[in-house]
Amino acid sequence: MANGKLIVICQLGGKFTTTGDGSLSYSGGDAHAMSVNKDTKFDDFKSEIGEMWKHDLSSITIKYLLPNNNRTLITISNDKDIQRMIEFHEDSTTVNVYIVTTHAAASDVPTMPCSRSSRTTAAGRASPVAPTDLVTYAEVIGWQKLTDTEEIEQQKLTASWKNNILGVDQQFNSVNELRDALHKYSLAHGFLYTFKSNDSTRVSVKCKTKGCPWLIHATKLSTTQLFRIRKMNRTHTCGVGTNAVCPRASKKLLASIVKEKLQNTPNYRPMEIVDEIRQDYGIEVGYAQAWRVMETAREELHGKCKEAFNQLPWLCEKIMETNPGSVTTLITRDDLSFHRLFVSYHASLYGFQNGCRPLLFLDNLTLKSKYQGELLSANALDGNDGIFPVAFAIVDVLSDDNWHWFLVQLEAVLQTSQFLTFVADRGKGISDSLPQMFKNCYHGYCLLHLTENLKGELKGPFTQEVVHAIVSELHNAAYAPTVEGFKKCVETMKCLSPEACEWIQQNKPEHWANAFFNGSRYNHVKSNVADSFYNWVSEFPALPIVEVIETMRRKLMELIYKCRVDSDEWSSRLTPSAEEKLRKITSNSRSVEVLFSPGSTYNVRDTLGVINVVNLDDWECSCREWQITGLPCLHAVAVIDCFGKNVYDYCSKYFTIETYRIAYSESINPVRTADGPIHTESSPVRVHPPSIRRPSGRPKEKRVRPEGEVKRPLHCSKCNKVGHNKVKCRQSS
Ligand SMILES: *[C@@H]1O[C@H](CO)[C@@H](O)[C@H](O)[C@H]1NC(C)=O
Ligand SMILES: *[C@@H]1O[C@H](CO)[C@@H](O)[C@H](O)[C@H]1NC(C)=O
Ligand SMILES: *[C@@H]1O[C@H](CO)[C@@H](O)[C@H](O)[C@H]1NC(C)=O
Ligand SMILES: *[C@@H]1O[C@H](CO)[C@@H](O)[C@H](O)[C@H]1NC(C)=O
Ligand SMILES: [Zn+2]
Repeated sequence: MANGKLIVICQLGGKFTTTGDGSLSYSGGDAHAMSVNKDTKFDDFKSEIGEMWKHDLSSITIKYLLPNNNRTLITISNDKDIQRMIEFHEDSTTVNVYIVTTHAAASDVPTMPCSRSSRTTAAGRASPVAPTDLVTYAEVIGWQKLTDTEEIEQQKLTASWKNNILGVDQQFNSVNELRDALHKYSLAHGFLYTFKSNDSTRVSVKCKTKGCPWLIHATKLSTTQLFRIRKMNRTHTCGVGTNAVCPRASKKLLASIVKEKLQNTPNYRPMEIVDEIRQDYGIEVGYAQAWRVMETAREELHGKCKEAFNQLPWLCEKIMETNPGSVTTLITRDDLSFHRLFVSYHASLYGFQNGCRPLLFLDNLTLKSKYQGELLSANALDGNDGIFPVAFAIVDVLSDDNWHWFLVQLEAVLQTSQFLTFVADRGKGISDSLPQMFKNCYHGYCLLHLTENLKGELKGPFTQEVVHAIVSELHNAAYAPTVEGFKKCVETMKCLSPEACEWIQQNKPEHWANAFFNGSRYNHVKSNVADSFYNWVSEFPALPIVEVIETMRRKLMELIYKCRVDSDEWSSRLTPSAEEKLRKITSNSRSVEVLFSPGSTYNVRDTLGVINVVNLDDWECSCREWQITGLPCLHAVAVIDCFGKNVYDYCSKYFTIETYRIAYSESINPVRTADGPIHTESSPVRVHPPSIRRPSGRPKEKRVRPEGEVKRPLHCSKCNKVGHNKVKCRQSS
């Protein structure tokens, strides 16, 4: 027992079975670790268990087995029982405690003394690893601080395992004996191996380290169960064997495996790690070991995440240095805690301004990291309707103020007088700031957000089906190209719910309905276009912030490169997606009839007898599809064909391959993060992680300048003195 603490491994949901000799074995279920000491109170103990599993406490019984006695389950029901359990386990670091739900107790726990029921034999076969083995392996993996005598004992044991494998022609009685020997051999020598084949006739293993030649190949002797080593290369080039054997090597390996797993999936439970390490490496790790390694790895990752904020000024500087023309802005709060960071690469800015439609989608995504934070992004679409990220920010919280700040930065980097169309939520931060920051802009309300708004406000007791119909009608109303089409949707909506009908008319259709919206959304009405580009951000919550930014940059670099290579293969005038749309339109256009009409407009009758009016000079049709999508509608194509003109001359230039290539013409350059910033113990911390509890009110902020940049002293243009500016100048004019 270390420091008077005993690690308790609580097991729930598995099954007890009795083996042939009447001892109990528990398998399956889930496990959770906690610790107790002699002062632990039973009520606290029980409620912690209750919290772990969200279980009704009144229905559970807590039991444990006496050490070296697998037959007697002892119930814990008061403080004294806990103390007794600790006393019994003075010589162990861990104890298994079994949570038995009262309901299950009758059927799952064999009555004492154990009877040999028919279930017994069935389970006896299923038991995979003898528990005593587990403990030994775990100790060899070696997490616990061992006493000197323990260490010597262990070394003796592992030393004997070192000779488990002797070489070619060595024979084993069964495949399992071979597997076991291999296993202990690798533990004793401190390396990991992987199975190339693992079946009842052939076992082939190699050292886990790539390129290391160590391998063993063994096969079954036909007609017997015997296994014989056929081939072996005992040379390790991975470093194993150069130092004296040390279980610490294994411990280090274990830690690195766990860390890698945690980085990708921070919510791993120890039991899952144990299972995976067994599967991946054939190593048995005790639950307690896994739990402790995980705790340590978590702490380490946490430390890295914290330090990562302090690396931001360095990273920002590197980005601007390696990608000239890129913009990064890092702001901390007064107490130097992280506030917000804006990043836009030159390649993105150039590509957007020269090769993409003036259409931006604003979206947000919550980072699930320890320090949370929110990713705000502005994204465009290329001429093939592929995502084209333009800028992003990481901010400490989702707030109107942070959105406003993001748009201020965006405006500053775009510096455009062009008309821009935005598709974004209509939250206050965005709605208010857009027209302030961009003189010439249209704000299309994102249909997804609108749908949520409407659903949230529907009061009537609607069935799922009616809600579905209402939502679908809202979408019809948003997409309807003409006012007549929109009105029809409103009528239908009225029948479904007068309340919803009222809602769609009251909620500014000019901001979301194609029929009234004056911006150019090209029929893209949802703001989440970049989901697939960014969604990994919330999947890898343990990534330190600098790595989030670097991963994003790498993805962008790959995206740009891939799109450029793809477009080299294209040979027509328009991008594949535009070509495909145009092909469908052209095929449909064969069914309409161009009527002779005077002047520059042409009447076109469709199969229903409806007349649409096409104006070739203005790129317009009364069906409004042309205006909305940027590609001529079927009526227009019919007219263009009829007059023998080239349909490509009537398609938006943004769909041409030429424009597409311009969008991807600039590259993103690698940032050499391997160098890393040089921080010493004494260097001052420039950026702290954001505080979890936010200061209220409008925060004071501070711009972090790149290292080395000297802050210019204030200079007054009025009196020519330093130390204040002209606003604060006391000299009267
Ligand atoms: C083991 O592999 C190394 C490196 O490939 C090779 O040089 C060596 O000859 C091999 N030894 C045996 C016994 O096959
Ligand atoms: C090898 O095969 C045995 C028997 O099928 C199995 O128990 C063991 O888990 C396997 N090991 C690996 C690493 O696949
Ligand atoms: C984006 O922000 C809105 C609030 O403005 C929030 O309701 C929504 O859940 C956020 N979206 C994501 C994907 O986090
Ligand atoms: C859209 O444009 C039309 C025609 O120029 C104009 O009458 C209408 O007021 C505009 N709508 C909005 C919401 O600006
Ligand atoms: Zn038309």
